[in-house]
Amino acid sequence: MAKMWAGRTSGEVSSIADDFNSSISFDCKLYTQDITGSMAHAAMLGAQGIITAQEADALIQGLEGILQDLDSGKLEIDYTCEDIHMFVEQVLTQRLGDVGKKLHTARSRNDQVALDLRMYLRSEVEEISALTKALVEAIVSQAQSNLGVIMPGYTHLQRAQPILFSHHLMAYAMMLLRDLGRLADCRKRMNVCPIGSCALAGTTYNTDRWMEAKALGFDDIARNSIDGVSDRDFCVELLSAISVLMMHLSRFSEETILWSSWEFQFIELSDAYTTGSSIMPQKKNPDMAELVRGKTGRVYGDLMGLLTTLKGLPLAYNKDMQEDKEAIFDAVDTVKMCLKVFAPMVQTMAAKPEKMKKAAQGGFINATDLADYLVKKGLPFRSAYKISGQIVAHCIAHGQVLETLPLEVYKTYSDLFEADLYPEIDLTTCVEKRISEGGTSAASVSAQIAYVKEQLA
Ligand code: ARG
Repeated sequence: MAKMWAGRTSGEVSSIADDFNSSISFDCKLYTQDITGSMAHAAMLGAQGIITAQEADALIQGLEGILQDLDSGKLEIDYTCEDIHMFVEQVLTQRLGDVGKKLHTARSRNDQVALDLRMYLRSEVEEISALTKALVEAIVSQAQSNLGVIMPGYTHLQRAQPILFSHHLMAYAMMLLRDLGRLADCRKRMNVCPIGSCALAGTTYNTDRWMEAKALGFDDIARNSIDGVSDRDFCVELLSAISVLMMHLSRFSEETILWSSWEFQFIELSDAYTTGSSIMPQKKNPDMAELVRGKTGRVYGDLMGLLTTLKGLPLAYNKDMQEDKEAIFDAVDTVKMCLKVFAPMVQTMAAKPEKMKKAAQGGFINATDLADYLVKKGLPFRSAYKISGQIVAHCIAHGQVLETLPLEVYKTYSDLFEADLYPEIDLTTCVEKRISEGGTSAASVSAQIAYVKEQLA
């Protein structure tokens, strides 16, 4: 069939070129935004006297009918159309006759695609934010119900100092709060209306761009018509924000996988969020966390793909930009799926306080506190550090631990050691004395929980 844009050419495109060129298989997702945008456009054309009020009404009613019929399934999308914009206009013209052909006055598909995508992503951002909040809430509830559970804190994946499990969890809550900030920030710049750019140069018709922008819930209009149809930085920004969010989920996934291993046994995942093996009867695999970690690479790929697509494009619109949609749709769908499974996985995981405590009791993670004890007795930190290191080496050589090493042995390293040493290096004391803001004591962690709750509200 000849194209709606037949004229300069016959519009007869080879079927292989037609398939290659077509975007309707994926931009059909945008039908609601496309039709809503067109309704606002028709209303503006009528209000400005560019078409008659009756024509505007007919167009709006016609578009409303198409939207209802698509929603109800009465009207099916015709995948032989080039894209969703052409499909809607074609149906409108079939239903209304010549009036339908007036809709495209003072606009272009370049405006439409930029508009539709901004409207679509704006609500996706809201959904992603709501799902992220639900994950933060799941983390907070775990942190609250496990307050007091001690685990080893790590650097270089080597046992470092005792911390509260809740403290570790709340670190992820803080990261996700920043992700929420990035999403909100990105939505702000996304919510700018490109309609009225009219292909690239603006228009000779007496349009009212603000009327359309306001009707569609935008805060601003694109101030340069070439920019309005040329940039996809709002997609790149969202992809970046999602990539950082996925990076956080991926690190949390990695720890979930480690912690649920037989080597750690710090947590046990609910059966509902694990899988079995087809051959090894004992297996309980953390597939959900592994998939989130795996899908992170895919989202980074979407970001890098779009950045690369855009980097060499001259202004204004180029067909290369049609590649934006599959990347951004894939990324938003992926992050939503990940968040949907991650929040309940966190909510339902069971901490194993005894195993964490046992791990905390090995590895000399109270050695810093041993050094601090000597500092409080007047020794400079560097000297205290050296003596403590020698004592740790002694314990390793003799299969002993700091908590039960006899005082006589301590005294051979420094006569500052007294019996009051033992409570000082008790793990609970080590944790509870870290009352600095943001620190690991239950009081500090409770303050962190209160802060996050306040930020969420
Ligand atoms: N399908 C196109 C896209 O997704 C819509 C814009 C096409 N504009 C044009 N002049 N060919 O980018």
